[in-house]
Amino acid sequence: MESASNFKQLQHGNTLKMKLFKGLENLMPLPQVVLKAQTLLMDPNSSFEEVANIIETDQEITLKVLKVVNSAYYSLKNKVCSVRQACVMLGLKVIAEIIMAAGTSSLFKKALIAYDINPKGLWQHSLATALSSRKIANAVQPAVANEAFLSGLFHDAGKLILDDQIFSRNDAFKKFLGQSPDTHFESEKQILGFDHSEIASELCKRWKFPKAVIKAIGRHHRLNTEQVDDLAFILYAADNLTKMNGNGNSGGCTLYELDEQVMQFLSLEENDINAILVEVDDSVSQISAEIFGKA
Ligand SMILES: [Fe+2]
Ligand SMILES: [Fe+2]
Repeated sequence: MESASNFKQLQHGNTLKMKLFKGLENLMPLPQVVLKAQTLLMDPNSSFEEVANIIETDQEITLKVLKVVNSAYYSLKNKVCSVRQACVMLGLKVIAEIIMAAGTSSLFKKALIAYDINPKGLWQHSLATALSSRKIANAVQPAVANEAFLSGLFHDAGKLILDDQIFSRNDAFKKFLGQSPDTHFESEKQILGFDHSEIASELCKRWKFPKAVIKAIGRHHRLNTEQVDDLAFILYAADNLTKMNGNGNSGGCTLYELDEQVMQFLSLEENDINAILVEVDDSVSQISAEIFGKA
């Protein structure tokens, strides 16, 4: 851990941010299958064949996808043995989402020591946010449902990159956490000069995700409520509802904010919210059990 003089010598602000940006893809190599599934999810003209051909190049992810597809969650009458068959049974969009959930599980499952996130915690939080975002979008703005899922799944990916940086400044980080009732987000800004939403948004830019997704992720902790942005509002609501519900772990943060204006704009009633939370909870535990085992 750092001493006070060491902390002063550590890089900060733009210098550190630019250094991290430089090696970003190496720090966070997203499986090709996931990148491709993302483009297929956005492309209304993609075919079953395309999805199957791509995913079958990655055996590990294929196995995970088939496990999820054959789980009680989808209650299919007959066992599905190939990705082609899975696409026919469940549809392309559902399969693309399962590919992304399964494909990010290895990458997201590491424990984040500085953030105090248990293994699988960030992945479960991200999946819960992705599923809630899609549900909210389906209710209020179906046109952005695919982008909403994508935004939810990757919104906190910056924490995977920043954990090491924060760990080398752990004393200072904990000190700021203790001083403020606010989230890790504020403490990151204090000790690094930037935060995980900026890193996640840059990652999504490198992966060539849709512009609206990059923007919504970059704003998920600093929403501009004056300017209506469907996707950013949806992601903000889904992230905070997921934290409120304690689904997964996004870093020991107990502070969530549900801006009234945003909730009104999305016209979310308490009943709708509760229904979304219950369904998402159930989905995350079932998908997680298939991917990581029942333990
Ligand atoms: Fe976040
Ligand atoms: Fe989050």
